[in-house]
Amino acid sequence: PEKDEKLAKAIAEVIPYFPFKKLEKFYDIQGLLHHPKLLNAMCAVMARRFRKMKVTKICGFEARGFLFTPVALKLGVPFIMLRKAGKMPNTISSGPYTKEYEGVDEICVQKGAIVKEDKVVLIDDLVATGGTLCAGIKLMEACEATVVECACMVELKALNGREKCLKAGAESVWGFISEDLLNT
Ligand code: PRP
Ligand code: MG
Repeated sequence: PEKDEKLAKAIAEVIPYFPFKKLEKFYDIQGLLHHPKLLNAMCAVMARRFRKMKVTKICGFEARGFLFTPVALKLGVPFIMLRKAGKMPNTISSGPYTKEYEGVDEICVQKGAIVKEDKVVLIDDLVATGGTLCAGIKLMEACEATVVECACMVELKALNGREKCLKAGAESVWGFISEDLLNT
C-alpha cells in the first residue's frame, strides 16, 4: 500500500474537522476492516518484519491498536492490551499524558504481563504527537522490557512523534502509510 495511493485511500479515509473543529483531519482506518484480504496482507507484512526482530510480545493500545491482534496470532506470540485507566485490575500505570486531541489520558498494563526479557513491539493505528506511544514506552521501561519498535498504520510526520519515541527509548519507529499518500 505504501506505493498505491488508491489502496491507501481505501483503507484510511481523511475526515475533516471530526470529532471537533480544532482537529483539522481525522484519519479513519475502518476501511481496513472492510477489506479482509488487505488486512491479512498488512498483518502478514508486519509479522514478517517482527519475526526478524525476534519480538516476544505485541502490545496494542486501546482502542484502535486492538485491531492488530492478527499480527500476534501470525507470529505466535502473546498480544498484551494497554488499556485506559480503570478498565483492568492489578495494573501498572503510565501516569497522565497528553495526546493530539482530547487532552489528558492514562494507560495501564497488567502486572506480570511483560517481563524483563521481553522484546516488544508497541502497535497502534496512528501516531500523531507520539504522546500515546511514549506512555507505552514508559510502561515498558517500568517492566524493564525492550521496545524494539513502535509501529503504526498511519504516521502524521509533521507532528514529529517519531523523534519523540526515539528519544523516549524506542529502538525504532515504523509508519506503514505516510499521511502524504492520503492527502494527495
Ligand atoms: C488516537 C489514536 C492513537 C492516538 C494518537 O487514540 O488511535 O492512539 O490518538 O495520538 P498521539 O500520537 O498524539 O498520542 P484515541 O485515544 O484518541 O482513540 P481510540 O481509543 O479510538 O484509539
Ligand atoms: Mg488510539
